[in-house]
Amino acid sequence: MRSDKKDILGLQEMPIADIEEILDTAISMKKLLSSGTKRTPHLQGKTILCLFYEDSTRTRLSFELASKYMSANQANITASGSSVSKGETLLDTARTIDVMGADVIVIRHPMSGAPHMLAKNVGASVVNAGDGMHEHPTQGLLDMFTIIEKKGSVEGLRVAIIGDVQHSRVARSNIWGLQKMGASVCVAGPPTMMPREIERIGAEVFDTVHEAVTDADVVIGLRLQLERQKQGLYPNAREYSKFFGIDQNKLRLAKPDVLVLHPGPVNRGVEITSDVVDADYSAINEQVTNGVAVRMSILYHLTRR
Ligand code: ASP
Ligand code: CP
Repeated sequence: MRSDKKDILGLQEMPIADIEEILDTAISMKKLLSSGTKRTPHLQGKTILCLFYEDSTRTRLSFELASKYMSANQANITASGSSVSKGETLLDTARTIDVMGADVIVIRHPMSGAPHMLAKNVGASVVNAGDGMHEHPTQGLLDMFTIIEKKGSVEGLRVAIIGDVQHSRVARSNIWGLQKMGASVCVAGPPTMMPREIERIGAEVFDTVHEAVTDADVVIGLRLQLERQKQGLYPNAREYSKFFGIDQNKLRLAKPDVLVLHPGPVNRGVEITSDVVDADYSAINEQVTNGVAVRMSILYHLTRR
């Protein structure tokens, strides 16, 4: 990458030039994938290890596929099947992986800052695949890629992020990344799920979804992060869906060519209705496809420093 950074830890600190370069290379990677060529020699001889301490379908699989399509050696470790269950620390686990010759370690961990701690202590490049409630930078990049594909640019767009902002690392990466690239970002969600620092990081806060989606170019839905929530933040799923769920009615207030995104997994009928998920203005499936191309681009740049 232009900045010669070793790791990808967050979009808050990522220079604009690096974001642009990753997104640019992802265009070529996507062309390669859609041309049916699913084998390139770019990562031949490189070793990519995925260390997942939390569940994942999209992120883990897309790093796995990206590595394999680019001819890397690739392996996965999960907390339950590793010596973590015997009491080994994260750092010792990572050093073990490092001395086995990993070039890139992709890590998802429930503790905010875990990838940063790792990056300081291993020689391999570290990619944050989601750290607690902090950041999910590769999701932020693939969301940006999808927006640019559909809208031509991020600059000048009005983006509304709806739902459980407090516990969402996707929200933070999107707010930092999209603002950096020239979008204006607003948020709406229950007050119990709105972080205190939200205005400090530049997002306008609305009390209602109606206000937030008015004239929006892009609406991003967030899942209720029940695994990170304390009890009693909202009465029940039906109430939540009525006031904070994204549905056709509320979307009528957005721009006529609104684009709807969601990082997945989706809880249909809770944070977003099923008809919106499947509508032609929703790019939720394309986000998943683009995730492979964006992660190919990330691995490509990190391994050619
Ligand atoms: N998959 C995303 C994450 O891991 C979003 C979610 O789980 O709701 O942060
Ligand atoms: N969007 C996302 O990170 O999905 P997974 O949790 O399935 O990886």
